[in-house]
Amino acid sequence: MSLLSVRDLEVHYEVEDGYVHAVDDVSFDIERESLVGILGESGCGKSTLSKSIIGGLDDNAVIRSGEILFDGVDLTEISDEQMREIRWEKIAFIPQSAMGSLDPVSTIKEQLFETIRAHRSDVSKQECLERAKEVLDLVGISSGRLRSYPHQLSGGMRQRVLLALALILEPELIIADEPTTGLDVLLRDKILNDIETYRDEYGVSALFVSHDIADLVETTEYLIEMYGGKITERGPSKQLFDRPIHPYTIGLKGSLPDLHENTDEMIAMKMQPPNLKNPEEGCRFRNKCPFAVEECRTAHPELTEQRDGIETACYRASEAEMMREEAKTVDWSNV
Ligand SMILES: Nc1ncnc2c1ncn2[C@@H]1O[C@H](COP(=O)(O)OP(=O)(O)OP(=O)(O)O)[C@@H](O)[C@H]1O
Ligand SMILES: [Mg+2]
Repeated sequence: MSLLSVRDLEVHYEVEDGYVHAVDDVSFDIERESLVGILGESGCGKSTLSKSIIGGLDDNAVIRSGEILFDGVDLTEISDEQMREIRWEKIAFIPQSAMGSLDPVSTIKEQLFETIRAHRSDVSKQECLERAKEVLDLVGISSGRLRSYPHQLSGGMRQRVLLALALILEPELIIADEPTTGLDVLLRDKILNDIETYRDEYGVSALFVSHDIADLVETTEYLIEMYGGKITERGPSKQLFDRPIHPYTIGLKGSLPDLHENTDEMIAMKMQPPNLKNPEEGCRFRNKCPFAVEECRTAHPELTEQRDGIETACYRASEAEMMREEAKTVDWSNV
């Protein structure tokens, strides 16, 4: 049994004149001790998806259908009380822009202790302290910082304190929404490497959310790409990145600066997110896709098996080689 199994999930936001179809018919699995990434540009539904797993959706969100099975238990069916028990203890969630969510008037020590105490009433002060030091050490922060307040730490340190908080109860799954956005490159690499180390030492699984394909290919073994609330492509990260099949993945990869190739061939992916309010029929990506054909208007394509364990939702997946070649000369910004 997979650690997490999301099945046919549909999440809508109720708005004045209709529904925003933020997550539409999404299914995927996370195996134990695996590192999985959710990739996609702003507004594609990444945060909605991750918040729905941990029961943290906005008030106007509705889970219309689907299951979220964690260790076989459907998280969409459990009570708030049961969810509180799972949160932190089994699934730790670091929300987007969480750096501001550290309590400004409590020290790092108080915040680490409080997280332990909220879940384990029988743990002694001494045990709390040992565990707090242990996790801080893991994230590369000296225990001398236990007495610091959040504002006394740099942005990168605060991000690592959040990771320490996420790890302190040894959860089975960590969900981190854009954990490295806004950090400089060196820090970003350090944090991403750390996370891999935790997986090896603690056997946790992680779900990382990011708009940055390069980040996710570095840190994850499996990538799920979304566009307009739908999964467009998924598969083993390296294979997907080396030879993408979906035009969206081809475009995202092409928009990266490549030191070894002629940068004139860089594809600019300056795209507006699609309107998810009462969306039209057909492939969500089709209005931005240089390879769209008549068939793309009919329905959103199903994910179908390709090579190397990759699954792609594109009617023209069999023409991937041509699309990769042609994409080099396409100006995506004008499509
Ligand atoms: N509370 C809300 N009410 C209505 N629409 C919402 C609400 N929250 C998010 N949305 C919309 O749902 C869609 C998905 O948003 P979501 O925040 O999940 O995207 P995202 O991929 O995390 O984007 P980003 O990269 O900017 O964080 C967007 O169209 C967004 O405008
Ligand atoms: Mg988000």
